[in-house]
Amino acid sequence: MKVINTVIELQNQLRKMHLSPIGFVPTMGALHEGHLSLAESAVQQCPVVVVSIFVNPTQFNDKNDLKNYPRTPDSDFELLSKVLRETDLVFTPGVKEIYPEEDKREFHFGNLDNVMEALHRPGHFNGVAQVVSRLFEIVNPDIAIFGLKDFQQLAVIRALVKQTGNKVRIIGNPIVRENDGLAMSSRNRLLDPKIRLHSPIIYKTISAASVMIKEYDIREIKSFVEKNINSVPGFNVEYFEIADDTELIPVSTKDEMKKDKKYFGCIAVKAGNIRLIDNIEIGLV
Ligand code: PAJ
Repeated sequence: MKVINTVIELQNQLRKMHLSPIGFVPTMGALHEGHLSLAESAVQQCPVVVVSIFVNPTQFNDKNDLKNYPRTPDSDFELLSKVLRETDLVFTPGVKEIYPEEDKREFHFGNLDNVMEALHRPGHFNGVAQVVSRLFEIVNPDIAIFGLKDFQQLAVIRALVKQTGNKVRIIGNPIVRENDGLAMSSRNRLLDPKIRLHSPIIYKTISAASVMIKEYDIREIKSFVEKNINSVPGFNVEYFEIADDTELIPVSTKDEMKKDKKYFGCIAVKAGNIRLIDNIEIGLV
């Protein structure tokens, strides 16, 4: 693989290779097997793949989170070199390459702006839309692969692509988990060891919730999830919602669940001082 840090050089390389479809996997680095699974599936589908590593300042609503976000370039390159081919590209731009001027664009995503992550991280998805639209402009991919781990982000990106009329095909790949069930995340390495030990409670609890739908109503399930996780010292549920996978409208009764839609239980938990998210499909009764 080739590591490139300017827009011009990236575009020159892609032009020279003249291969299609171009596969694209945007990341913020601190890579783990979840990211690598996306890169692997891009390699399987595309003769040329671009993986970007860019910690995007505009999507961090919390300045401390941006400062503390893990940065592990050496390990990232080593991991990627095991998955990518000689001709694939790793794009590691500086802030000025992505934002030569301040990005003042404002995006609107209807209901997606008013639920779950959007309520708890104001401005976050606007920043994600800014960077992803800019990266799409630069890379001009045919296929872009994202993880279902960031469930609402995937819906936002599908909405963004629809709005901008971009022809890129968006693919959502399954969540990769640690052996104990915790969804892999760059932030996991920031967890206090004691908190890390208890973190599997999140996936265990939402897995139980996904089965409870057969016998319990939504209010009871939500209350179970909150109580079960909050009973572990240091853990606090920010939200748990059951929502469809396109508009992400949270349901409050089972009657609101439509047969032709897929539903997911989506959770955000403060684990010590680290915020973790996860989700699971909730089958219909
Ligand atoms: P980042 O958190 O680095 O994630 C990059 C991609 O990896 C996202 O599509 C995310 O959903 C996926 N991913 C993360 N953990 C995963 C897991 N355990 N299993 C499967 N996929 C996983 O998401 C971002 O970066 C940024 O917001 C970005 C889209 C790059 C824009 O800055």
